[in-house]
Amino acid sequence: MSSPPQGGTREKLVSKLPADLQYGLKIRAAQLGVAMQDAVAAGIETWLGRSGPLPQVDTAGAESFGTYLPDGLYGRLKDVCRERDVSYIQGLAQAVALWLAEHPAAACPARRLVVCNQKGGVGKTAISSSLAQALAEDPPQNRSRTPARSRVHAAATAAASAVAGQRVLLVDFDPQGHLSHQLGFKAIPAGEESLITHMLHRDQARRDLLELALPVDGRRFGGRLRMLPAAFDAFLLDSGLTMFRGPRHAALERALAPLEEHFDAIVIDSPPSLGLAMDSALYYARHREEEKPGSSGLVIPVEAEDTSAQAYGMLIQQTEALARDFDISIEQLGLVVNKFDPRRGFIATSSRDKWIALGTPPVLSVVHDLKEQREAVRMQTPLFVYAPESEQAHQMRAIARKLRIP
Ligand SMILES: Nc1ncnc2c1ncn2[C@@H]1O[C@H](COP(=O)(O)OP(=O)(O)OP(=O)(O)O)[C@@H](O)[C@H]1O
Ligand SMILES: [Mg+2]
Repeated sequence: MSSPPQGGTREKLVSKLPADLQYGLKIRAAQLGVAMQDAVAAGIETWLGRSGPLPQVDTAGAESFGTYLPDGLYGRLKDVCRERDVSYIQGLAQAVALWLAEHPAAACPARRLVVCNQKGGVGKTAISSSLAQALAEDPPQNRSRTPARSRVHAAATAAASAVAGQRVLLVDFDPQGHLSHQLGFKAIPAGEESLITHMLHRDQARRDLLELALPVDGRRFGGRLRMLPAAFDAFLLDSGLTMFRGPRHAALERALAPLEEHFDAIVIDSPPSLGLAMDSALYYARHREEEKPGSSGLVIPVEAEDTSAQAYGMLIQQTEALARDFDISIEQLGLVVNKFDPRRGFIATSSRDKWIALGTPPVLSVVHDLKEQREAVRMQTPLFVYAPESEQAHQMRAIARKLRIP
């Protein structure tokens, strides 16, 4: 239930509302920066003002719902429900459906890039981190005072400008907290407010989640790159979601929705597992009606060896099952064949070729096993600060360009 307003006289409404309307209302209100109780009140006012018949909403299985309304509004809703010969639950559902129809989501504020693979050690953290850095760093013309050396160089600079300079949120969604550690952040201790609180216990959250998103050091990021550190409580996220009352697949989206307007991209470093927490990340990556294809989806690091192919198969099964269950589409934006070392011979080269031959999803890059990545991790320094001109940093810029929204 939304919290009672400060000042003004309001009365409590306790009724029922279908889960999808409750969910849509919460997300849309958060996206538009409107208090839920004001959205419901506005919907009821619009509903009261309608004269013609309104489409029936399927209210079977509606779940309890509460909010606060201006004094007398619920009474007026009930009176008109009686006049129109509809149940109070139907009247409220129609009012909320009307509000949603009249308040479409703003142009999609942030694309969501979920870097995932339940196989451990394939480079999810390395790629989330450096992809986010590539998107956030200063555009090249702001980095270098030397004029473009050639037309090719000028074209590359222009292409890079188109993807750099973005406001990026990097989310450490892995309880292991490697990403947080590598960028010099401490994981949030158990019991303290974190992303997990905002996913599972919103009523206990005291701060805006945006306040927990800390700037990543590095002049080249110009304060545009922020990160939500890992939390020890995330170890219990799957079991917390089992008990969660509400649409658990949307728990991550509900927590992050209020932040979307502050960022151009949200990059999520996933844990090496396939559970309910991962389902909520996959669901968050789904294509939204208001965004262009290719905006949001999965970036999948793999290795050039056989077990990686099996792991990929499992991830895709899980993704397809989720997409079927919720009638959504989850785009695989591309694979990154990571830690490639041709000295490993036939297994490595033939596996790489198989990944490339897949065609869909495309291989965004074949990244070699490079020392700068490991050194940057050891130094707890972002790769783009530690070795901005390294081959790896350039490959990450190339991946960011390939992920450019068409
Ligand atoms: N291209 C690369 N070259 C060299 N080292 C790399 C490269 N990519 C990743 N690594 C290193 O390999 C190790 C595993 O990478 P990383 O932690 O990114 O994998 P992960 O998939 O996130 O692992 P986990 O499943 O445990 O979360 C790290 O030490 C990382 O620095
Ligand atoms: Mg990791």
